[in-house]
Amino acid sequence: MELPLQEDEQSMQSLKLSLKQRQGIYLASGSTHPKLAEDIATFMGLELGLVERKQFPNTEQYVRYGNSVRGQHVFIIQALAASNGCSVNDSLMELMLMIDAARRSSAREITVVAPYMAYSRQDRKARGREPISAAAVIQMLQGAGADRLVSVDMHSPQTQAAFYGPFDHLMAEPLLTEALKVRVKADLSSFIVVSPDGGRAKVAEDYAGKLNIEVVHMPKSRDVNDSSKIIRPDFIGEVEGRTCFLIDDMIDTAGTLVSAAKTLKDSGARRIIVGATHGLFSFPALERLRDAPIDEVIVTDTVPLEDAQKILGNRLFVLPSASVIGRALSEIATNGSVSKMFNDRNNR
Ligand code: R5P
Repeated sequence: MELPLQEDEQSMQSLKLSLKQRQGIYLASGSTHPKLAEDIATFMGLELGLVERKQFPNTEQYVRYGNSVRGQHVFIIQALAASNGCSVNDSLMELMLMIDAARRSSAREITVVAPYMAYSRQDRKARGREPISAAAVIQMLQGAGADRLVSVDMHSPQTQAAFYGPFDHLMAEPLLTEALKVRVKADLSSFIVVSPDGGRAKVAEDYAGKLNIEVVHMPKSRDVNDSSKIIRPDFIGEVEGRTCFLIDDMIDTAGTLVSAAKTLKDSGARRIIVGATHGLFSFPALERLRDAPIDEVIVTDTVPLEDAQKILGNRLFVLPSASVIGRALSEIATNGSVSKMFNDRNNR
């Protein structure tokens, strides 16, 4: 007999749309991460709509929908990440043009799906005369004509406030928790969750709660004049002989997680697994992770991962995110509930 599915597990089941629902939807992909867009389309039982694009000799971009979007709910999927020689700003500009083209072509509704929201770390003025880049980007998307935003594990979920309209904040937690359950089962007595800085404390506590294991918090600060320099104040934690799961929202240069892993190792940790939603892996992240005392690196595919497998080999585990994103888009398209996918806890 099959066991009944838990609510989290149910939410990851495919939600294919009916023919009538499909007819009102135009799912379009930007050029940064077409594989993820295709996976989402397959999950929803849809095909990606055509988008023509070209670049002018001076690098300005051009986009055009290949079919009519009049009266359609247009979902534009674009990972705001660097990929294939395109910068983050190129991907942002392409997205702006796609929103503008949809608006001027009489789309009924425009939902922007940015699984990784660029610039989200500059979410406040830490010093005078700085921008709040996270708010500036979100307001640009709204100014171009986006009616709704969807993103996954924003650096600061409260940045949603910069958008005057619906903002669906998704979490990769169900995916990572599933991957961890197997590992915890094999290593129950020694497994702990570790937050690598104050910003992840609540998230780490959520994981610990779900997995029914302890949590340890590590302090971190950055040099105010050089943010790549990480300062790890003395750390005294009960980590000797433990398997530590370090959780973060993103791995950019891997400075945060590698410095935390080294400190844990020096404090006697036995195994170290690092997990993050977004594997940005800016240089020298992959080399740092490869050379660090880290046994496994678990990320989702919200951004394209290019060379990661080549450098990290079988220490890298990539969790497909199309089930979470596709399910949420189906809920949105059918006026269902996104919150129920996360038991109303998608606010962390
Ligand atoms: C910072 O507070 C974030 O949550 C991440 O820890 C950080 O941005 C990761 O960057 P990096 O990998 O370059 O340390």
